[in-house]
Amino acid sequence: MRFNAFAHPVIYPKSRVKNLLKTCSKHDYFLQKDGRRIVLELHTEGNSRVYQKVKGKESFFLMERHTFRYPSTRYSGSKRRFLDWIWSNLKDIRFQSVLDVFGGTASVSLLFKIHGKEVHYNDLLKFNQIIGTALVENKKTIVTAADLKNALTFDRKTYPEFIQKEFKSIFYLDNENAWLDKAITEFSQVRDKYKRAILLSALFQACLAKRPFNLFHRANLYIRTNNVHRNFGNKTTWERPFENLVSRYVSEYNKSVFDNSKKNRVIGGYNALDCPNGVDLVYLDPPYFSASSNQGANYFTFYHFLEGLANYDKWPRLLYSPRSKTKKFHEPSEIYEWVQKDRICETFEKLIARFQDNIIVLSYQSDGIPSKEEILLTLKHFKKKVKVFSKTHQYVLSPKVKEELLFVAK
Ligand SMILES: C[S@@+](CC[C@H](N)C(=O)[O-])C[C@H]1O[C@@H](n2cnc3c(N)ncnc32)[C@H](O)[C@@H]1O
Repeated sequence: MRFNAFAHPVIYPKSRVKNLLKTCSKHDYFLQKDGRRIVLELHTEGNSRVYQKVKGKESFFLMERHTFRYPSTRYSGSKRRFLDWIWSNLKDIRFQSVLDVFGGTASVSLLFKIHGKEVHYNDLLKFNQIIGTALVENKKTIVTAADLKNALTFDRKTYPEFIQKEFKSIFYLDNENAWLDKAITEFSQVRDKYKRAILLSALFQACLAKRPFNLFHRANLYIRTNNVHRNFGNKTTWERPFENLVSRYVSEYNKSVFDNSKKNRVIGGYNALDCPNGVDLVYLDPPYFSASSNQGANYFTFYHFLEGLANYDKWPRLLYSPRSKTKKFHEPSEIYEWVQKDRICETFEKLIARFQDNIIVLSYQSDGIPSKEEILLTLKHFKKKVKVFSKTHQYVLSPKVKEELLFVAK
């Protein structure tokens, strides 16, 4: 997925913009009024240059152009593949600020950031908030080669052995568990908040990449170690050393850091229904509840290991007791509103009621609970204008064609 992101506005003479326009045909640019700004976007060879004219001021700002690539992720429910489509349905709405209530990998937050919005990021899970800090809040800090080398130099006399002991033969090999104990100790000590966030985010992505199915809901290390024929997964990536994967993801995260001149921030780990507001538009991408299932997607079950890494010091106290096979993390009660069948419809209603004063944009799938019709009914109860867009798609290895939905309610 490629975007054009813009950083560090530079004042550019109006005459230059006019000259450039003379060389373009009408198809090469568009002018858009966006609140107080007039935005002129020029398309050149697939890239864009954006000039902004702030009303009342004569200067145009040339926003530096660089090709943007959202860092890769194997996170369940990530909207990364739908970003262009989502934006094509939102680009004509006037709004300055947005709250991404179920932020996850921050892919949609980044989409809004790229388009010059003030972005507030929220997610119940701490490891996701760290990713939000690295990508949404961070304006300019990157992890240099020297920073990375320092963080990967394990020169303390002793290191904790929590993962080695507690997670033996569950998710990773012994030497990998020992490496994780050292890496998380070093990364957590990095003083700069944004460098730390990039390093930790890269570590989380590396952990996902080395897991069969990219999840932590089963103690299934044997899938990696058994000598059997497989027609799924990526054995080469599973066996790649953590260190290599972390370096790769740090480089990806570094490339995604930019400033859109707005005060973007991670507001925290609020339960969606209690999330502070104060923005024009809310984007809702709640956990998915498939109609063919008895449980909604439980992100704590899926990713408790990453949540443990994000809370490394407290991890021993947060483990379930009695302990499950996967050594699950103690789950906050808020998660159950989204995973229990008898509560899910009421939770959706509460969510929409909570944000009834905002422009609401909601992502969901057509074969879920509640159904498309039920969601439309609830939105229409609170909002005058409601539209729904849909896009069919297919996951790799799945024969089923899915329909992604985007509700826009004003
Ligand atoms: C479908 S995912 C969002 C994916 C995200 N839009 C992306 O592109 O990566 C749902 C997210 O909701 C979060 N979540 C689950 N229950 C929550 C709650 N009660 N309040 C806030 N966030 C919650 C999960 O941690 C998960 O990241």
